[in-house]
Amino acid sequence: MRAVLLTLAALAALGLTGAVAVVWFGLYNVSAVTGHLPGVSWVLHTTFRNSVWLRAPSEETVPELDDKDLIALGAGHYATACVPCHGMPGEPASATMQAMVPAPPHIDEAVAHWEPNELFWIVENGVKMTGMPAWPVGGRDDEVWAVVAYLVSVQEEAAPELAGEDEPEEYCASCHGRVGGQVPRLDILQAEYLEEQLQAYLSGKRPSGIMAQAVTSVPEARLAELARHFAETADEAGDEDVADAELASKGEALAREGTRDVPTCLACHGEREDGQRKGPVLDGQRRGFMEVQLTLWRDGVLEHDPLMRAATRDLSDAEIAALAAYFAGR
Ligand code: HEC
Ligand code: HEC
Ligand code: HEC
Repeated sequence: MRAVLLTLAALAALGLTGAVAVVWFGLYNVSAVTGHLPGVSWVLHTTFRNSVWLRAPSEETVPELDDKDLIALGAGHYATACVPCHGMPGEPASATMQAMVPAPPHIDEAVAHWEPNELFWIVENGVKMTGMPAWPVGGRDDEVWAVVAYLVSVQEEAAPELAGEDEPEEYCASCHGRVGGQVPRLDILQAEYLEEQLQAYLSGKRPSGIMAQAVTSVPEARLAELARHFAETADEAGDEDVADAELASKGEALAREGTRDVPTCLACHGEREDGQRKGPVLDGQRRGFMEVQLTLWRDGVLEHDPLMRAATRDLSDAEIAALAAYFAGR
């Protein structure tokens, strides 16, 4: 018995010494030229696939993905965040990216074998030790679904063209002015407010993977000028909004009078006698955007303004829909 234990201890010590030598003397060749040893790629990819199958959310969590604004939003994000590695549909990927180990599969291939709920998990979590990044901020399932909506449109060969503008204004305008739904209108807002928000996306104070990508894709020195430009540029992206008068009038009552738990929104978002307001303009803002934002405030994903957090804490989904319908139609 004692001999067995001693042998095991000796082997363990030898193994440890070996491991230390590999790390310390650089014995393991990290060169990506030759790829993995035979079999290793198979093991890694199979582990990856099974890990996704085990962890992906259930199919019931998949929202409507065929909304054209949602797909366009996902496409706009994909164009800068994912194209460098996965390429554009129908176009070859860059030779340099093909030399990665593992190489990112071309978009046409990357979407081929996964269901929407699995794509969601992959885009939200990334894949460790492969270069596939996680979503940059937490709590933004709504944004990840926009990207999944685009990936599914690629699967179905119904994807919109990707924009490839280099000038900052045109790049921002690939969403703002062209896409409705959860992309906000900027032309109703003041330049100072827009600039503050751009800084909040940059610092991470206001979590959004889509806008964090956008503000880090243009020179920081241009942000103030972009805020001024978009405050003054009419946004005509159409929203085929079904005006729901009954819903809007419920929203109006809540926004004007509040309840025991919800303060009146107009106290801060309506114009005061001196023409000032405490909060940003919401009149004419998009319904889809308002619904997403109010849900994020209520659920505590957004918390950078304590008064807004308190104002929304007790809202129900139905109240959120009513408020969004009211302000969108104002
Ligand atoms: C820096 C390069 C890089 C970026 C940027 C990147 N990916 Fe990936 N991605 C990879 C690599 C590498 C893999 C392969 C992982 C593996 O097979 O083990 C991968 C895998 C995937 C897969 C799974 C495909 C499969 O079957 O292996 C999907 C889907 C995907 N990426 C989507 C995206 C989306 C959407 C974005 C943008 C939000 C993105 N990726 C950004 C490198 C990248
Ligand atoms: C891929 C689409 C897309 C691109 C590109 C994009 N945006 Fe946005 N933008 C959005 C979305 C979606 C939101 C809402 C984000 C959130 O949930 O906070 C937003 C929010 C904003 C806001 C906050 C508005 C408010 O009412 O609070 C500003 C300001 C803004 N964007 C400006 C810009 C500028 C400037 C650029 C270019 C550097 C840009 N955006 C590029 C989609 C985009
Ligand atoms: C005490 C003042 C106050 C009250 C009450 C209030 N808000 Fe706000 N709200 C703000 C401020 C300030 C902001 C800007 C926060 C920031 O800096 O991002 C804001 C932001 C928002 C935004 C994001 C707008 C955008 O374009 O970025 C929405 C939507 C919103 N409020 C809706 C509402 C609704 C609906 C109510 C009523 C339930 C409400 N607010 C009550 C002060 C208030």
